Order: sequence, then structure tokens, then C-alpha cells
Amino acid sequence: CGIVGYVGAKECTAILVNSLTKLEYRGYDSAGIAVFEGDRIKTVKAKGKLKEGLIKKLENEPHFTATAGIGHTRWATHGEPSDINSHPIGNGRVSIVHNGIIENYRKLKEFLISKGYGFESQTDTEAVAKLLDYNYDGDPIDTIIRTIADIEGAYSLGIMFREHKNRIFAARKESPLIVGKGKGEMFIASDVTAIIEYTREYYLLEPGEVADITADGVTFYDMHKNVIEKELQVATWDVSAAEKGGYAHFMLKEICEQPDALKKTINPRIKNGLPDFSECGLTDEKLRSYHHIYIVGCGSAMHAGMVGKYVIEKLARTPVVVDIASEFRYRDPLLAPDDLVVIISQSGETADTLAALKLANSIGADTLAIVNVVGSSIAREAKMVMYTLAGPEISVCSTKAYMVQAAFMYLLAFRVAYARNAIDEEQCRQLISELSQIPSKVQKCVDDQTQYQKVASKLISADSLLYIGRGLDYALSMEGSLKLKEISYIHSESYAAGELKHGTISLIEDGMPVIAVATQHDLYEKTMSNIKEVKTRGATVVMVCSEDMKFDGNDVDYPVMLPLARDLLMPLVAVVPLQLIAYYTAALKNFDVDHPRNLAKSVTVE
Ligand code: G6P
Repeated sequence: CGIVGYVGAKECTAILVNSLTKLEYRGYDSAGIAVFEGDRIKTVKAKGKLKEGLIKKLENEPHFTATAGIGHTRWATHGEPSDINSHPIGNGRVSIVHNGIIENYRKLKEFLISKGYGFESQTDTEAVAKLLDYNYDGDPIDTIIRTIADIEGAYSLGIMFREHKNRIFAARKESPLIVGKGKGEMFIASDVTAIIEYTREYYLLEPGEVADITADGVTFYDMHKNVIEKELQVATWDVSAAEKGGYAHFMLKEICEQPDALKKTINPRIKNGLPDFSECGLTDEKLRSYHHIYIVGCGSAMHAGMVGKYVIEKLARTPVVVDIASEFRYRDPLLAPDDLVVIISQSGETADTLAALKLANSIGADTLAIVNVVGSSIAREAKMVMYTLAGPEISVCSTKAYMVQAAFMYLLAFRVAYARNAIDEEQCRQLISELSQIPSKVQKCVDDQTQYQKVASKLISADSLLYIGRGLDYALSMEGSLKLKEISYIHSESYAAGELKHGTISLIEDGMPVIAVATQHDLYEKTMSNIKEVKTRGATVVMVCSEDMKFDGNDVDYPVMLPLARDLLMPLVAVVPLQLIAYYTAALKNFDVDHPRNLAKSVTVE
């Protein structure tokens, strides 16, 4: 979910709505605002995406004069998407917006019902709103501190009290929240993109802190009501990064930004022709000392870790375990203090990934976070952090963030291999020089998009399809399959090509598309045999392969040829066609590519 708030001199509904549009990637099941209008709190909220819901509803409202308020865009957890379950939630005296989960809401609700409160929604949020009302004693800070002492879970809150006009409050435990500082106006937001149009200066609210905000400034308190001084941060992201800039969708724009994102991420990490991790304190001595390397993340970040596993193991001959964060945290992993845990996250806020990191820290393992958002929770919690410098990624479907995460895996693999003497300096320099050529090869893939449109036009009528590959191609096909299913809603699975014959091949029927990724020359003949197996059974085969690969035209319906690079580096090139095929399939189906149903970009709940 996304939270915004404004206090200032301007009429605030337009600002709140505009800021919400920037946070819609965090959830778009419903949206709403609450503002101080006259002597009361006026709330407008609606199910559905902003444009179809809240914005339409606001058009039918009388003119607003309010200059302070809060807003919310929701990714539903407790309670279906509906007007009533939308935020802000309150009772006339208190109104709140909430991101996260209140774990003990049932207990709180029972207590409040016993005190005579009625409940309308199915949300956990309503319990907090009513508890604030129950605890209210005229002093908002006391009320908030007493209330959050009783709440369990991970959350951030924006709060307003009717009796404290033109003043908003914020509280945080885990889920991120910032307080933006403008000239004669202040903001709250789940992240900087929401307010960067208005100000670049902001404070980061830390867990266990409460903010009291008026147009003139903010006062921060800890849980004992001590005033805290905080350092002002300055966002460096470019405003245009959060605009579509002529592209039909953010996803397409972000795919096209990949050559640049790669250069920005890789180049500063090369010193004297070798990968350099000194900025985070990861020394060769440390790299030699680790027994195991774990790579943990969710979704695309975890897929980048899969590429990392193949490359690190191949080059450095060091065992790597890749884990899904939500599994890792509960499976009592065999982790020891002499292990390295690499945590990958675009947002740096994914709840499961953050919990996995905390677990690794508590066991005493070394932790290295590879994160895109500067100052995010994961970046701050990890012992070492390196930033992927992709700039803000707005489309829910991750593309450029995956690309730079995968690129980081190569830098790490090269350095681990070099530190452990699995490759010598010359080999390491050679690998780095070839990695530096990748942005231009990615550019080539991005330049001619007609072939992907053609493939996409063949996929739009499919109900289901398979991605197959071996080795690194298998690791990559997982990401290709995820891209397609998340935005085009076509069921797809990725399968290790050699495993297909052990069950899944029974799904193949006449015309079913199979996307085979074949960039690894040593595995090419084997993958080709698997392609023949599916072709014989009626599949329509799309083959994504290196441009020097020879094949029989009868086996492949739609070849997609890739510029040549060392096999080891090919995932960075081959992912581009897979992203663009997914993109055009969804775009041809007229789906809302940047906001696929049921998803959110930053998932700050378990
Ligand atoms: C969500 C997004 C995915 C993303 C995953 C991990 O599920 O929809 O695209 O890969 O979270 O996000 P993170 O910010 O931790 O990389």
C-alpha cells in the first residue's frame, strides 16, 4: 500500500491525488483521501484504480478548500477490495491510512467491541482507528504512543484528529515512511517518488518514531515522548525518471533504459580493470573465509540470484544456495557465522526479504544487501550494502532492476573466483572487459523490436505455455516465464529442458507455444533434442538463441537471434527478448501493463 499526506497553504486534494498516482505501483485495489474540510474530516474513497475510482468520484464532489489531509492507495490483505475496506478509515473524530499488517487486530477488535465500538469493514486497520479513538485524551502524541504500544505487526500510519485541524501525524514500525519538507508545506509519503515533484528534502521516519506535522515543520518523538533530532536527506533521483517520457508504458521505458542502468551500476565498481567491492568493505580475505554463500530474495530478485548461483559455482567452485525469502526465514536454514548471505531487493522493503536478513544477522552471518532504493530498510539493516543504480523502477513488473541485480551477480562471481584463486588476474580482467561490452549488446536487442511483436502476436491466443532451457538458460527462463504470466495473465511455467520428459511433456498439445532459450553452446545439442521432442508433439516453438547457432527450420517456428557474447554472460542479453515478448503480449491484449491485477511492486507484508 502507499501512504501520502500534505499540510500547507495550497488546496490539497489535487496534491494528494497526484502523489497517489506516483505510488499506485504499491497497490491499486482502491484509493482514498481524508481532508480537513470546514470543521470536519471529509473522506472520499473508492474501489479500483485511481482513474476509474477515486478520481471519478472526486469529479462529482463540490469544490474542496482543504489544505491538509492524508491519502492511500491499497493492496488488499485483510478484506476484499471494496469501497468500505478502502482507506482512510475512521469514525469522524480520527482518520487513518495504514500500510502493513496488524497481527493482533482480532484481539483489539474484541476488546473494542466490549467497549461498545461497532465495526464496518473487514480490515485490520479499523481496529487501529477505533483504538486511537478509544485512547484519545486530547493529546494526540500521548494517544498515538499509547495506541502503538498495543499494536503488534509491521506497519506505517498516517493519522489525523478532527480536533487538531491542519496537523497530521505519522508513526512507523517497519513499513517505510518519509516526511517531506517543502517551503511552508510538509508531506508524508511511503517513498520519495510521491513527493519529488514538490520537494527533494525529506526525513526518514525510523521504526518506533512518531511525527507531528504542521505547515511550518515537524517534531519527531520516540516512544517515551522524547523529542528527537533528525538529519534532513536529499533525494538525488531525477523527476523525469518518474515520468513516462513518451513511452506507452513505464515497463517499455524501463526495458529501454537497461543499457544505461547497466553502465551506471557496473562502471563505478570496476577499478583497474577488476571488480571492486571496497565501498562496502567486502575484502578478498572475507571472500576467502566464507564457507557457504546464500542468496535470498523474492520474485525477480530471487531469479537474479539463480543466475548468481550458476555463475559463482561455475567460476569460483564455491557452493551457493539460493532461497526464496519467505521459505528461508521459516526453514531454520543451516546458516553459520562464517557464511555470507547476499540479500537482493529492488525496493529494499520487501517484508519477507527483510525478515530473512534479520535472521541472518541474528545468526551472525555476514550480510551483503544489493538494493536499488537508497536508505531503504534492507540497505540499513545489512552489514554491507551495495546499490544497484538503476534509478526508480515504476512498472510493477521488474525489468531494469532485475538486469542490474543480475549484473551485480557477475561482479560478485568474478571477485569471489579471483579472491579464491579459481581464476587469475588476467582471466578476471578479461571477464570484466567482456561484461563492459554487454550494455551495447543489450542496446542492439532493444533497437529492433519488430521480431518480438511478431512473436507476441502468436502468443496472445494461448491459454498456457512453457519456457524451457538448461543451465543458465533455465535460470533465465524462470524470469521470462514470470514476466509473461504476471502481465499477460497467460499461464506459463519454466522447466529445465531435460526434466520435461519426466511429466510435464504430457501437457504439450497441438499449437501450444514453447519458448526455448538456447544460448549455452555446450548444452545446445541437448536442448535441441528437447526442442525436437516438443515439436514432434505439436508445439509451436519460439527459440531464443545466439546468432551463430544452426538449426533445422522444421524444428523452430520463430527464431529470435541474439548478438554474441561469452556463454556465461548471455543471460544479460537474452533476458531482453523475454521481457519484450512479455511486454508486447500484454500490450496487444490491451492490459494495464504497468499495473497488473492483484500485484504490487513493493510488498511490505508477509
Ligand atoms: C513483488 C514484485 C516483484 C519483485 C518482488 C521483490 O512481488 O511484484 O516484481 O520482484 O516483489 O521485490 P524487491 O523490491 O524485494 O526486489
